[in-house]
Amino acid sequence: MRASLLVTVTAAVAAAQLPTATLNDAIYIGTTTRVASATAVVDKFLGIPYAATPRRFRAAQPRARGSERVNATVQPPACIQQSSSSGFESEDCLFLNVFAPRRGCGTAKGNKAVMLWFYGGALSTGSIRSVDGSSLAANQDVILVACNYRLGVFGFPGNVSGLPDDELNPGFRDQKMALRWIHENIASFGGDPAKVTIFGESAGAVSVDSHLMSELRDPPFRAAIMQSGGLHTFNRIALGVGVSVTGLGTGNKAAEPPLLTLARYMNCSADTAVACLQAKPLAELKSAVLGLNLLFPPVDDGGQTSVADTDSARRAGRTARVPVLIGSTFKEGAIFPAKALQAKSLEQWAQAIYPSNEADASAVVHAYAVGSSAETQTADDAVRLLHSDFQFACTTTYDSNMLAAIGIPTWRYMFNASLPSGPASHGSEVRLRLRASQSSAANQALSAKIQAAWARFAKDPASGPGWSTYEPTSSAENKAIQMIGTLVPYRLD
Ligand SMILES: *[C@@H]1O[C@H](CO)[C@@H](O)[C@H](O)[C@H]1NC(C)=O
Ligand SMILES: *[C@@H]1O[C@H](CO)[C@@H](O)[C@H](O)[C@H]1NC(C)=O
Ligand SMILES: *[C@@H]1O[C@H](CO)[C@@H](O)[C@H](O)[C@H]1NC(C)=O
Ligand SMILES: *[C@@H]1O[C@H](CO)[C@@H](O)[C@H](O)[C@H]1NC(C)=O
Repeated sequence: MRASLLVTVTAAVAAAQLPTATLNDAIYIGTTTRVASATAVVDKFLGIPYAATPRRFRAAQPRARGSERVNATVQPPACIQQSSSSGFESEDCLFLNVFAPRRGCGTAKGNKAVMLWFYGGALSTGSIRSVDGSSLAANQDVILVACNYRLGVFGFPGNVSGLPDDELNPGFRDQKMALRWIHENIASFGGDPAKVTIFGESAGAVSVDSHLMSELRDPPFRAAIMQSGGLHTFNRIALGVGVSVTGLGTGNKAAEPPLLTLARYMNCSADTAVACLQAKPLAELKSAVLGLNLLFPPVDDGGQTSVADTDSARRAGRTARVPVLIGSTFKEGAIFPAKALQAKSLEQWAQAIYPSNEADASAVVHAYAVGSSAETQTADDAVRLLHSDFQFACTTTYDSNMLAAIGIPTWRYMFNASLPSGPASHGSEVRLRLRASQSSAANQALSAKIQAAWARFAKDPASGPGWSTYEPTSSAENKAIQMIGTLVPYRLD
């Protein structure tokens, strides 16, 4: 009797200490966690649904009200991956994870800065399962939210009849629902809905750019970070040059939305493609997409969720006017397979990039000639550097120039750390920012530096991450770029 009473009391105390968030749809009970490098305790909520179970290809809808108690303690399924991976995945995948510094007693009003992370993966793969925001939350006193969003044909069915014209990119609509969820609910976690920064890497940065181009009035965020990507980058993959490197989209046809190529294969007629594919079993749909190797790029829906021509839109002022932090890594191309890159010579790459401009193509060959610099000692190095610059660094320069030219406060970085795992390739900075434990003391210091810069920007976007703004003057001297990794300010020439 006495013993069981004691057990009950202990359980009640433990339950009382578990973080709880009472939202309109349910009461969520999380867990707490700590990281070695910080004293702050982090409240961790995993698998909170931010929308109702979505209908295939259609926009996410809000959840019904409710008051059920739900344990938010296990990782949710990923959205359906366009890969043969057999991990835990589902079409019912609109979940997010929250990592929030535990609030002290009596601080009822939430006022912390909030960072919403969109993962990368060519809008075809990726999930929040690998994103651990504990370190950022514990060390920097910010709230990290990471949301799943639909991928491939499920997230980007495109402009086909049968879909309303504001539902052509449901993957981006998912992300907008997550932003809406933050606005309605983040105060319950100690966050301030007026202090939201969106950030992402690769396709995550493409996503950030699409929100910049579609949230023109009262954007549901006040700052944006684009790491190694923007709509420009995706266009280059979709337009073909990237196809040879990433291997994605070899089945796409020039004049046909990929969903219609898929529909034909599945014996669906073009005018009822959406309804017909909605009725197909998931496994058949998934294996057909993989077999055909289709890439589903975001489409221009007139700025409702995305645009094709970001330059014209920005020039015309059709963009969210919030501070932007933008950058890339020095050797993005290092992660792409040698076989794919070496299938073409430097000359052939230059031709592919400038198919109708002989002079520019030969200038490129000259600039990246083998042996012409420390970074182009071999043919492989030369092609990798050209690819990095073409696909990422140049588009970053382009976007930085454009942002700064229209008066958007812009900060730029180049990540060039030499890591134990190899050079600063595509995505290599992500683990430094988001992982709790690093492989060496030097990386721990680098990680802390990056986390601090990102959080500083999120807390006070107008003041920037800690270095000078990017200036679009013609003088290379004024293009301040923070070189991250070598830990010295770097100027582009
Ligand atoms: C939630 O977790 C607690 C233990 O922490 C357990 O007692 C309870 O049954 C769980 N509730 C549900 C609905 O799984
Ligand atoms: C499409 O129809 C053809 C001819 O009836 C059939 O052989 C094929 O298996 C069908 N394909 C699919 C994906 O159902
Ligand atoms: C979709 O394509 C049709 C033509 O097939 C076009 O009339 C329509 O404007 C496009 N919708 C959007 C939102 O671009
Ligand atoms: C990046 O680091 C490598 C290796 O340390 C160096 O050779 C290269 O010049 C650096 N890149 C830039 C742009 O400074």
